[in-house]
Amino acid sequence: MTSNGLLSVKDLRLYFRTLKGPVQAVDGVDLTLRRGRTVVVVGESGCGKTSLGRAILRLLPRNVQKYTGQIWLNGLDMMSLSDEQFRKEIRWVRLAMVPQAAMNSLNPVVRVGDQVAEPLLIHGRASSLEDAHKSAAEVFNQVGVPIDFLDRYPFELSGGMRQRVALAMALVTQPDLIILDEPTSGLDPIQIIGIRKLIKELAREKTILFSTHILQEVEAMAKRVIMIHEGRLVHDGKVDDLLSRHGSLDKAFHSLTAATAAVH
Ligand SMILES: Nc1ncnc2c1ncn2[C@@H]1O[C@H](COP(=O)(O)OP(=O)(O)O)[C@@H](O)[C@H]1O
Ligand SMILES: [Mg+2]
Repeated sequence: MTSNGLLSVKDLRLYFRTLKGPVQAVDGVDLTLRRGRTVVVVGESGCGKTSLGRAILRLLPRNVQKYTGQIWLNGLDMMSLSDEQFRKEIRWVRLAMVPQAAMNSLNPVVRVGDQVAEPLLIHGRASSLEDAHKSAAEVFNQVGVPIDFLDRYPFELSGGMRQRVALAMALVTQPDLIILDEPTSGLDPIQIIGIRKLIKELAREKTILFSTHILQEVEAMAKRVIMIHEGRLVHDGKVDDLLSRHGSLDKAFHSLTAATAAVH
């Protein structure tokens, strides 16, 4: 397979073993994302958004039943890499994800500046502690966190500021692709406005896969939308096309998910 995008995913599947039988969380997903573009992945809770991100980052739980398909990053066949290569060269270096509720998963006993500097030290991307802190200060600036917050602990920051720190942790290694998993959930309305604005700014330069269960968030964030239902893509295309064909994203979503329910 040749890749014409930064990220190409072909027939990706991630199934889990559960007491109630297998769960097909990602069930044959194909997608291509070009460098510098943003796509919003939208679907109801439980449709597989987080699993898709985790499958791309190879962040797999123990109860995986099936993990297959092809993932290419800038022409590199990622499925052919060993776990060690993937951990050393890809995850958190070339591919990063801001996990769902990231603002609540910062380490409570480590200063946020050190947490942002850490990926650089772990992956040998900074020649000294001083260098790592300098880069951390630069990304703080990029995500709108005042530099004097570097010395603070997470509990001293608001939810919006903690979410910015989580974004900084993902950005600091300058990855090729950033996956943002429901980055506005759990924030209050004013904070949501700020985080959306920041992500729009980042999207001018970065390649972003942004997932949300909020249909109203789609238009604000990207021109292209991927809709997921029960682990499958039910639509991949321009938001404008859906709006002109269905009138609203809500109507589009209902009609597209009803269509697949009838097929499967
Ligand atoms: N580790 C796991 N073990 C078993 N089932 C899981 C696991 N993680 C997610 N699931 C199931 O996979 C499906 C997709 O979940 P998820 O990717 O979290 O959806 P979303 O992020 O869209 O809410 C759901 O049915 C969920 O219950
Ligand atoms: Mg999720």
